[in-house]
Amino acid sequence: MIRIFMRRWFSSQLKDLEEAGKVIKLNKENKKAQVEEFTPIPTSPVLGPIKIEEPKVSNKTYRWCSCGLSQKQPLCDGSHKGTSFKPYRFTLEQNIDFLELCGCKLTKNVPFCDGETCVNLRKQSGQP
Ligand code: FES
Repeated sequence: MIRIFMRRWFSSQLKDLEEAGKVIKLNKENKKAQVEEFTPIPTSPVLGPIKIEEPKVSNKTYRWCSCGLSQKQPLCDGSHKGTSFKPYRFTLEQNIDFLELCGCKLTKNVPFCDGETCVNLRKQSGQP
């Protein structure tokens, strides 16, 4: 009974650490476990901006997918659950014709395409 409780407690602790961007690693020299930070890398579903025509203003909160796992790109569908990623929430204060949200998930101007990161990724991967 205690064994089952300890296993559940330990796996919930590991999940909390993972969601906080931390991981437990074994130090090979002193054989002790230590907690280390890590930077999670998102999946890039599209190497370019994803356009939203005539986005809604004020009362609509958009949730931009930061993990790249959503099936409703560029917006969140909850697929990030169990990862350290969280959606980026934003609202619009004035009418605009369209939004160009980042599809590569590595933009320097979250949640918008910075027009540079995706271009470099396409060049590196040999895509036009
Ligand atoms: S789509 Fe990510 S920077 Fe352009």
